[in-house]
Amino acid sequence: MIYEKEYVLRRKKLAKKLSSNAVLIVFSAAQKIRSNDTEFPYRQDSNFYYLTGFKEDKAALVIVKEKKEFKTYLFVTKKDPSLELWTGKRLGQEKAKKCFLVDDVFYYEDLGKKFSHFIDNRYALYYDFKLDYSKVKMIKAKTKNISAYFNAAILIEELRLIKSASEIKLIKKALSITKEAHHKAMQISSSLKYEYELQAEFEYIFKKNGAYSDAYTTIVACGNSANTLHYIANDKKLIKNELILIDAGCEYEYYASDITRTIPVSGKFTQAQKEVYKMVLDVNKTIIEMIRPNILRSELQKKSEELLCRGMLRLGILHGELEELLEEKIYKKYYPHGIGHWMGIDVHDQCPYKTIRGDELRLKAGMVMTIEPGIYLDKDDKSVPKKYRGIGIRIEDDILVTKEGYENLSCDIVKDIDAMQELIRTNSSNQ
Ligand code: GLY
Ligand code: MN
Ligand code: MN
Repeated sequence: MIYEKEYVLRRKKLAKKLSSNAVLIVFSAAQKIRSNDTEFPYRQDSNFYYLTGFKEDKAALVIVKEKKEFKTYLFVTKKDPSLELWTGKRLGQEKAKKCFLVDDVFYYEDLGKKFSHFIDNRYALYYDFKLDYSKVKMIKAKTKNISAYFNAAILIEELRLIKSASEIKLIKKALSITKEAHHKAMQISSSLKYEYELQAEFEYIFKKNGAYSDAYTTIVACGNSANTLHYIANDKKLIKNELILIDAGCEYEYYASDITRTIPVSGKFTQAQKEVYKMVLDVNKTIIEMIRPNILRSELQKKSEELLCRGMLRLGILHGELEELLEEKIYKKYYPHGIGHWMGIDVHDQCPYKTIRGDELRLKAGMVMTIEPGIYLDKDDKSVPKKYRGIGIRIEDDILVTKEGYENLSCDIVKDIDAMQELIRTNSSNQ
């Protein structure tokens, strides 16, 4: 749980980054239509949630800064009993004033009027453009007297990079649920027929434990399906002697988890599967061991490319000179993605990996990133030794950077071959 004083601190840190004589506005997410008049379950905008902890739509946060002083205002939608009958109670202005330590709370319906007053004679406007600047024109047209426009998203994402103790606690809670689901999957996969049955098991365990949902659509990819990186159809049969790549993690109180495990359907790896699995697992472990403050993500990336290249040369998947394979990026055919990404309120927290000046960020205590090396060998790729064709393996953990080095937040989700086979075996013998 995150207390209001932490949100106050976040707003204060953000206000400090604004130029003097500026206004910042961040909106709640819009309700999204699924079809006709049915909606997707509502999920608050990550940046808005980070700054307010407010879960309703039709809301906005405004910060007005003058010299070093600043004021914060929350806009909430009016209570309307006839609408609340259908969609639930709204907090309303009075209660919001009590719950949120902002300078004032206004009605969202009055935002336009209030906002033109706020921006009067201001130099800069900070708006959350996310990575989509297509709104710039529209925003400029509505705010004519502003001299400078900045993307608030970058500033907020920078703050979101360093997690507080309470945020880490929530990520750990998400991971404890995700662990239960992955372990259950290992235990039951041999008794199931279709990929979607495993997906259902994940979603059931997530919900049963109070998670809002999955942090991203669960990937259950048996055999060659694993060679589609974000395979979410999950509609094929589970085939004996194949592997299943499961990339799944729940979102708990707005915090994500992101875990991939690759397991044998039958409970036992074949020799060829073992060889590729072991190579990816070694890389996963070596890269995690490298994590410490000051290291660059690109160093981790480079090392993972080198290690996977060496492994593929050893297994006869690649041929030639290591330096040339690396230089020419030949390995990309089989390892086409990054070693990992920031994770937090979003499964892919969006902070750019480089500053505006182009300097790469160094890892710092409090950051959380995934480490997820993978190898994808398509069934029709004749340049791959036959015994390896159709194998796709990714092993993904969530790592907290600490002052001393790192903490693997998912270290108790099993990934060693013997431990996985043991978990599967004990369950089968209990049935
Ligand atoms: N689950 C998406 C990813 O691993 O980045
Ligand atoms: Mn990931
Ligand atoms: Mn993942």
